[in-house]
Amino acid sequence: MARPPWWHRGVVYQIYPRSFADGNGDGIGDLRGLLDRVEYLAWLGIDAVWLSPIFPSPMADFGYDVAEYCDVDPLFGTLADLDAVRDALHDRGIKLLLDWIPNHTSDRHPWFLDSRSSRSSPRRDWYVWRDPRPGGGPPNNWVHAFADGRPAWTFDAPTGQYYLHSFLPAQPDLDWSTPAVEQAMHAVLRFWLDRGIDGFRIDVVHGLGKDPELPDDPPERAGLPHIAFNDHPSVHPILRRLRAMVDAYPGDRVLVGEVFLLGPHDVTAYYGLGDELHLAFDLPRCLHVPWEATSWREHTAAVLAAHEACQAWPTLVLSNHDTPRHRSRLGSEARARAAAFLLLGLPGTPFLYAGEELGLEDAVIPPERAVDPGGRDGCRAPLPWDATPSHGWNASPWLPWPPEPARRNVAELRADETSILHLYRRLLRARRGSPALAWGSWRPLRTSAPVFAWERGADGDRRLVAVNFTDDEERLELEGRVEVSSDGSGEGQPFAGVLAPCAGVILRPD
Ligand code: GLC
Ligand code: CA
Repeated sequence: MARPPWWHRGVVYQIYPRSFADGNGDGIGDLRGLLDRVEYLAWLGIDAVWLSPIFPSPMADFGYDVAEYCDVDPLFGTLADLDAVRDALHDRGIKLLLDWIPNHTSDRHPWFLDSRSSRSSPRRDWYVWRDPRPGGGPPNNWVHAFADGRPAWTFDAPTGQYYLHSFLPAQPDLDWSTPAVEQAMHAVLRFWLDRGIDGFRIDVVHGLGKDPELPDDPPERAGLPHIAFNDHPSVHPILRRLRAMVDAYPGDRVLVGEVFLLGPHDVTAYYGLGDELHLAFDLPRCLHVPWEATSWREHTAAVLAAHEACQAWPTLVLSNHDTPRHRSRLGSEARARAAAFLLLGLPGTPFLYAGEELGLEDAVIPPERAVDPGGRDGCRAPLPWDATPSHGWNASPWLPWPPEPARRNVAELRADETSILHLYRRLLRARRGSPALAWGSWRPLRTSAPVFAWERGADGDRRLVAVNFTDDEERLELEGRVEVSSDGSGEGQPFAGVLAPCAGVILRPD
């Protein structure tokens, strides 16, 4: 079997830059702070970093409202700082992906200022402008995200039309049916590809193709954000042209799209015939599998069957900057440890959200400290680096600490070989050393116990992985040497046939 590309074998680490590390002591994470912590990323053993947006932005949606695509916001540093981060990562064999936000810009982006300036602006058709419906009011019944049922349209009195915004009014949607928009966006990506960026995570990629008729959403979806159901075929030619442009660059650049659809949908359609996205998230499905062996087995089998049918490779995600951390959702560190065997042991490219390797829970946010319009502050709490009162940050950070920062911080857990951090590191190392784990085939194993067990294999390399979802010890008739276990016990020894409550294990058959 030929070795697949890096984005298929490797593990991606998501950094939310405001919350990772602060280099200049203003309480907001930045690129110099990140640069100082590259050594940690190399020690941990990840293959790529995906950096959430660092572009100039009024920060209405903390950077997902971009006012300039080819620069760095002074809050985070400079282009030179970003180059330094890229070089430091590349020196250690780590790739760098940026977050590209093509569905909408900030309302302060010069493109939108121009578009809004008059009906005859040459950029009027770069955004979605429509007349009020006859008798007045928004052109259709679409509702925006984060809005409790408020319209996805805002009236612009000077020009007498509404503009569409799938998210906040400060995030007007671009009109991707206008060729100049696509050209301008290709130029943005070329700017970064020429600068040695290894690829992009694409924000709400399913939003780019819109039904040109902009029909009303059906009554049963009243009050639900339109964007969560926007799955129109016109997205596919856009993705094919994008893929062709990116693939023309040397060095295996990658496009990972965020597909966040709540209705019936087929995420593999976004891979095309191997000529659209390289990888796609299928977030609502992936994030909310019940904590139970049968659910995970069925979910995995269904995902793999769908992806294999079109030679696509899945993604694996437990946490990100938009959703409560899985340590909080699952309710215990034991479960978070067991979940790490799913993330790093099932087939698919794992995306690890900074801090999950520390077993971080969401911060409790008092109402007066809440800042996000979407209520997502808890999972964006700053990463504690050490046990000092400021936890490696120089000022009081922009959000409260997650629970137990004096114990649950990088320095303490790094010094403790029994910590969840060391478990992640051992799992990452096992993956890197095993073609079976990194990209091998998958086969569920029958067991008498209520555990989820599977076999991976590639090039004569084999591993068995088992996860016990129950709170009881389970007997397991699998054989092999323990390569990694939840608490480190028995590693290097023949498997004793018992899986601890809520634990995972990787076995290497002799
Ligand atoms: C994506 C991002 C989210 C952002 C939204 C609008 O879902 O992950 O953080 O608010 O898009 O850009
Ligand atoms: Ca800072």
